[in-house]
Amino acid sequence: MNKENKKQISLTLEEKLKLLTGKDGWRTYGANGKLKEVFMLDGPNGLRMMTDDGQTKKATAMPNISIIANSWSKEAARLAGETIADDCIEKGADILLAPGVNMKRTPLCGRNFEYFSEDPYLAGTLAKEYIDGVQSKGIGTSLKHFCANNREYDRFSVSSEIEERALREIYLPAFEIALKANPWMVMCSYNRINGVYASENKYLLEDVLRGEFGFNDVIVSDWWAVHSQFRRVKAGVDIEMPFTDKSYDDLKTAYDKGLITDEEIDVCVERILKLIEKVENADKVKKVEKTTEERHQAAVQIAKESIVLLKNEDNVLPLNAEKSGRILISGTFANDPPMGGGGSALAETDFKQERLENLISEKLGDSAVVDITANTQFTGDGCNNYIGNAIEAAYSHDTVIVCVGTGKWIESEGKDRTDIKLPFVQEEAILKIAKVNPNVIVVVYAGGAIDMSAWIDKVKGVVFVGFAGEGVNEALSSILCGEVSPSGKLSETFPLSLDDTFVKNNVGDGFVDLYNDGLFIGYRYYDHENKEVLFPFGHGLSYAKFDYSNLKIEKTGDIEYEISYTVKNIGNISAKEVSQVYVKDECSFVVRPEKELKGYSKDFIKPGEEKQIKIKLCKRAFAYYSTILKDWHVENGIFEILVGSSSRDIKLKGKIEINLPEEMQFTR
Ligand code: BGC
Repeated sequence: MNKENKKQISLTLEEKLKLLTGKDGWRTYGANGKLKEVFMLDGPNGLRMMTDDGQTKKATAMPNISIIANSWSKEAARLAGETIADDCIEKGADILLAPGVNMKRTPLCGRNFEYFSEDPYLAGTLAKEYIDGVQSKGIGTSLKHFCANNREYDRFSVSSEIEERALREIYLPAFEIALKANPWMVMCSYNRINGVYASENKYLLEDVLRGEFGFNDVIVSDWWAVHSQFRRVKAGVDIEMPFTDKSYDDLKTAYDKGLITDEEIDVCVERILKLIEKVENADKVKKVEKTTEERHQAAVQIAKESIVLLKNEDNVLPLNAEKSGRILISGTFANDPPMGGGGSALAETDFKQERLENLISEKLGDSAVVDITANTQFTGDGCNNYIGNAIEAAYSHDTVIVCVGTGKWIESEGKDRTDIKLPFVQEEAILKIAKVNPNVIVVVYAGGAIDMSAWIDKVKGVVFVGFAGEGVNEALSSILCGEVSPSGKLSETFPLSLDDTFVKNNVGDGFVDLYNDGLFIGYRYYDHENKEVLFPFGHGLSYAKFDYSNLKIEKTGDIEYEISYTVKNIGNISAKEVSQVYVKDECSFVVRPEKELKGYSKDFIKPGEEKQIKIKLCKRAFAYYSTILKDWHVENGIFEILVGSSSRDIKLKGKIEINLPEEMQFTR
């Protein structure tokens, strides 16, 4: 719609109100042909398009967001966005309802597979790239779920009760960072925050999101998240989705009663018209760039970056025809790996994967023997027989790969996990197989942290694949066979057990979820409590070895520093390494986490080669949110810079003294 057209469009009151309530499940109202209907569909793990008879149309099933996060690669996140955008263009979607940047406060949250991390900086920076990737192709995104929706249990009513510092330092920054990519929409969440529904939370939507973060586009409700029409309009929720007669009637009644003014309606209408204009402008230029095969290859490439090697005793991996001997593949997901968790984020593909045993045997060459045990679905009735099959086969092989995990029945929108262990039969199968075979490699397909305490000491290798999309077998086989060195690192801590987590399995009292862990979620919690973990945040092994040296810190502005260090590949395979920069405030008058991630870099380094890595640290890297000053504040004093290969494997340390003049410290 050009400016002239826009002027000509005169909408009746009824049409305006309808514009604020959507046309159906997925479209905005078209005002009898006067306006383009904006078509929005779910992401984030691939495009999910429901047909009228409730089926899902096939699309590229991408590695899930939690897996993209394990890549720690901005390029991978961007590529994921660009790839999904091609599916959107092909299927006619204008906006992808993704990505979600809610924090992983508990490993139980049923939607963790849809979210990036327990760390706001990692989540925000990767989400920004993902959004840039989608939007570079003329498809809009809807950043979600704003905010503090960190579990599924009671999500339609529970109040996330959070004190302001935690809100500012933990639950909002991922949104704030991702907003730098200018998503076309933001979706508010279902829950209440400090007693007030997200969809009615004027403080968070108007004052913080629009006022402070500068977001001036459409806010859409999560589906059925609106409870009061006049309160949502006053809070700045422009579109309620999906359309229902009741929402329209309630909106009209609120208007008739004088609870909503014409001006307030016009503000929402203006923002929606601006969105329509963006969609129309994008329509003129957007085109599909990747063929279906290229999109599939993108899914493979991202999965390769994201698979995490957790344990590799005696270098059981990579496989090799001579060393590994007769190889057996076994287990629930040996040939039917789960594409994702359940709910609105589940993309369905019709891509037929090559079988894992074929891929492995092809890569290892003619002398390799790679078998698969039939019937090793370690779930449901009769599974003991299946375990029997697996044990028998494991006897006669030298190396066994056991494919286990969760899937959409265990991890899903709308419910939380009750446990973080693998299903009991899978644990039992691993233990029994490990009794008869000394070289067991467990491959885990799950959307979140798994308690491995029952079996981890009995096996030699553990590979965390996650929900890695339709390219998983290709990606996994090239990592298992050493064509590619693993380079994924965990974007969430794997605790020893659920009991070790702050939230445990506390589901609250049905009204309030008290966030009395404050700032201390994820690694911030385990560091603060000095707790051992199974695998720390940022952990992931490689087939190469890296040496870190030469840390230099240069002051480049008042509170701006350039951190540089060298990473050398001292192994004998080319590989990527994710190096991580954490900042620790050594002495502070407010409680602060032990350390916080403030930068990272993923670099491809050949054997013998070294790379100098540079990371910029600005004010925010040192600041805490002062609830008294109502602003970010940097205290004078000593800060430690920690460069590590994980949050618990710190290789280099340096110090900075910040000594700001009085007038620069704070002005309020
Ligand atoms: C989910 C959203 C999703 C929407 C539309 C809701 O249940 O929370 O993330 O975008 O449905 O499917």
